[in-house]
Amino acid sequence: MAVYECLSEISNKIIANKDFLTELDREIGDSDHGINLSRGFTAVLEKVSKDEQDMGVSLKKAGMTLLSTVGGASGPLYGTAFMEAAKVLTGKTELNAQDFLAALDAAIAGIQKRGKAVKGEKTMLDAIIPARDAYAEKINAGADLIAGLEAAVKAANDGVEYTKTIIATKGRASYLGERSIGHQDPGATSSTLTLEAILDYLKNK
Ligand SMILES: Nc1ncnc2c1ncn2[C@@H]1O[C@H](COP(=O)(O)OP(=O)(O)OP(=O)(O)O)[C@@H](O)[C@H]1O
Ligand SMILES: [Mg+2]
Repeated sequence: MAVYECLSEISNKIIANKDFLTELDREIGDSDHGINLSRGFTAVLEKVSKDEQDMGVSLKKAGMTLLSTVGGASGPLYGTAFMEAAKVLTGKTELNAQDFLAALDAAIAGIQKRGKAVKGEKTMLDAIIPARDAYAEKINAGADLIAGLEAAVKAANDGVEYTKTIIATKGRASYLGERSIGHQDPGATSSTLTLEAILDYLKNK
């Protein structure tokens, strides 16, 4: 599987939502999330080989590129997530349902090791962890990758809604305290868009 095509789907989706993500970050952050990620994913498409079939090789390159180009808090976090997922998928050329779960688990562990956040702090984890749990439940009941990802995307969107109801305790948004309530988290939103793009890619390939 040429991960390039999937990364290209993610990149297009992030770029299409650049202003929306930046507006969300204006409300509770410093107005750069959409700009940061668009810059990063544009660079990813320049660095990752279109023909590389080893998913781990491409994801490692993508992670290193995100790490060095996105900046802010989310750059190291997204970079680590992709690099940890890469370790799980190294040597593999086709994505199966179990490997995707292992990759999600590795990505979450990487984000948590680096950012020291847990669920409920109004971060990207409030989308990604419920998505992972919904995905695991679905595939463990026998569903395939796409059906699992559909459940994951739904849970991630619910997670984004949940971030509106809680106070931020990590990152710049935490300076707002109670005033962060009512606003959805930019990182939870961008990680949901990322999962949606992966689903779109898999459905259309
Ligand atoms: N410790 C953390 N763990 C997980 N996600 C985090 C953490 N800190 C911030 N984030 C995520 O990063 C997003 C902000 O990313 P952005 O690209 O705007 O970087 P930033 O402006 O440096 O971030 P921040 O203002 O949150 O420090 C937040 O919406 C949140 O989802
Ligand atoms: Mg920001």
